[in-house]
Parts: sequence; structure tokens; C-alpha cells
Amino acid sequence: MSVKSFNLVKIRDQFPILNKKINNHQLVYFDNAATTQKPKKVINAINEYYSEYNANIHRGIHTLAEKATIEYEKTRKSVSQFINSKSEKEIIFTRGTTEGINLIASSFVKNFLKKEDEIIISEMEHHSNIVPWQMICEENGIVLKTINVLENGEIDLDNFKELINDKTKFLSIVHTSNTLGTVNPIKQIIEICKKNNITTMVDGAQASAHSKINVQDLNCDFFVLSAHKMYGPTGVGIVYGKEEILEKMPPYMGGGEMIKEVNFLKTTYNELPYKFEAGTPNIGDVIGFNKALNFISDIGFDNISSYEKKLKDYASNSLNKIDGLKIIGNSKNKIGIFSFTLKKVHYYDLGLLLDSKGIAIRTGHHCTQPLMDKFNLEGTARVSLAIYNSKEEIDYFVEKIKKLIN
Ligand code: ALA
Repeated sequence: MSVKSFNLVKIRDQFPILNKKINNHQLVYFDNAATTQKPKKVINAINEYYSEYNANIHRGIHTLAEKATIEYEKTRKSVSQFINSKSEKEIIFTRGTTEGINLIASSFVKNFLKKEDEIIISEMEHHSNIVPWQMICEENGIVLKTINVLENGEIDLDNFKELINDKTKFLSIVHTSNTLGTVNPIKQIIEICKKNNITTMVDGAQASAHSKINVQDLNCDFFVLSAHKMYGPTGVGIVYGKEEILEKMPPYMGGGEMIKEVNFLKTTYNELPYKFEAGTPNIGDVIGFNKALNFISDIGFDNISSYEKKLKDYASNSLNKIDGLKIIGNSKNKIGIFSFTLKKVHYYDLGLLLDSKGIAIRTGHHCTQPLMDKFNLEGTARVSLAIYNSKEEIDYFVEKIKKLIN
């Protein structure tokens, strides 16, 4: 699809929920950083799996099991192409970004870092990219360090370089902040890490629906994402890891499917990627995820970037004209995520009022409490945009806020 053929009406038509009325008003869904809505093709694919070929995978020789296995593995291939991994073996299915980070913490960091080694994260991390590291550090005597975030919401690269020393062995950083919208200079950060022999992990949860991810070009060792922030189902995500690193890592969970042979003296493990996929996975939703990837690819990242940038600039101009509204995070490179405070109006009251007008936003600390502390806030209101949002929706939202102030 070329830029010319980008058709918002046709895109919106694919999302049944966008026609819904909430509290007697047309739904305006501005909570896309929490989870995106799902197009019909994703919903239909899940329905079709359960109606037509529900079976367990990798285990059966019957027709249904074979069909389910083929469809499940097709998603692995699509993900591999979507993020440009070298091999499909480098794609491990998880329940989502959070499980992915825990897998890397338990299987890689726990086994390959030693006491007094150091891990670097940043102040803008989601709790899921903080707590697993705190747990593993506490258990193993590893030291956790954090990169400062600047007043405008950008990462402090000078501070990052100062934190690195001989003991720094691992970095885990968010690609795009769920609270600030900041897009971090990931390639540059990874280059610095490579020069210092630091293994790298990128939290791509908020990035993967908005810009093209190329893991080989980034040269990261690990990349994690969640399907549900990419127009796909909840309960599915992936860990990408370089094959040579994944090969060395022990399994994360024991169970069926991750073994080659089990006996009471010694069990041997399956090959990649199955070594990390113990138990029956979320088959129907993995199959649905493939359709979400198709949805994104059909529009194309050129169209997505160009439309979402226009929408972001429009929202930014409109919000900045509202008296008493302060946006937290004004990085030069950011996506359409706006955390803000409004003078004299608590974010919680604002969220409820907007809901009564059919507008869904998120309020609170957005699972980034250390970042809120940094900005001396308890929470904010947050608008997060996606490909199906429109300028008209932004106008409606701004009109409702202005009415509230008056
Ligand atoms: N991480 C999700 C958010 O930012 C839940 O809302």
C-alpha cells in the first residue's frame, strides 16, 4: 500500500469495537499503550482455530494436530520476517514482554553473571523491566544501576557512559517509553555496549507497532515484545535471542515439549526454540497474532510512520494550547503518547469525566513509579494513539477538556 492509498475509513472498518457507543457516546479509544484494539481478521482467526481445527501442537499425527502445528509455526516464521531475525529458531513464544524479560533474567543473567557484576537499566523503565532485575540482583549479589532521564524525557547518554565500567555485563533498556513516548537512540546505545562487551536486551513492547524493528541492524542480543500492543491477542509475546546465545542458555521452565528424552537419571533438552517452550502454549492466540502482523504489514511502516507522525504533531499542538495542561516528556524523537497534568483537575477525575463522554484514556502511574518520582508526580493522565485514531477524535477530546476547565 502506498502513502496515497492509506485509507483511514477502511482501517477503522476492520475494528468492530470502534463502532461501539460508551455511555451513549461514540467510543474514542486513546488507551493504545495499555493494549490496542483487534481487527476482525485476528478475531476470526482465533474463532476459526477453535471452531475448525482445535488440537494440541507438535504432538499429534492426526489431521487437526497437523493443521494446528502448521498454523502455529507460520506465526513464528512471520515474526522472524517481521523483526528480521536470522533464523526462526531465534523466536521463542511467551505470554508477553513480562515473561520474556523474566526468561532472560532467569536463564541468561542468573547463569552467566556473577556476584558484583553490574546491570544497567534506565529511570524510564516499566516495572516489568525493573522488578525482574531487582529480584535476580538480590538473589545473586549483582548490582543494578540506572541511567538518568533528562527533564525533557530523553535518556542522559553522558550519564549512561559514566555508569559503564569493567563490571558492567548487561543492559536492559526500553525502546519506546510507555509513559513519555520517548524513542531512545537504541542503535547508538547498543553500539556503546558492544564496544564494552555488554550483553543487551531491548524492551520493544511500545515500539513494535509503530516503527520497523530490525534486530540484525540493531545488533541487540535480545528483543522482547507483546502481541496485544500490536493489534494482536493478549497472552502472546516473543523473546528474540541470538542463536549462539540461546544455544548456551539452560531451559527456563521444565515440562512437556521442551525435552528430547526423559529418564530418572538424566533428562536431555529439546533443540531451539522448543527448549524454551514448556507445556501447551497459547495456540489460538499465537495463530491470531499472525493476522495482526499481516494487518500491520498490509498498511506498511512507511504509511504508519507518516500518518502517526501527523497525528502526533496535531495532538501535540492541540494539547499545548490548553491552559494549565503540562505534557510530561517532550523528547524530539517520540511517538503519540502524551502523559499530562491539568492544573486543578486530578487525573482520576479527568479520566472519569472523559469516560462519561466515551473517551478512554489511562490514568495513574502507568507502571512507572520511579519515573513518576523523578518528576515529583503521583500519576498523570495519558493519551496514547494508534493507527485508527483521527484528528476528529483529538478535536472532540480537546473540546471536552476545555469545557471541563471552563
Ligand atoms: N504497559 C501498559 C501501559 O503502559 C499496561 O499501560
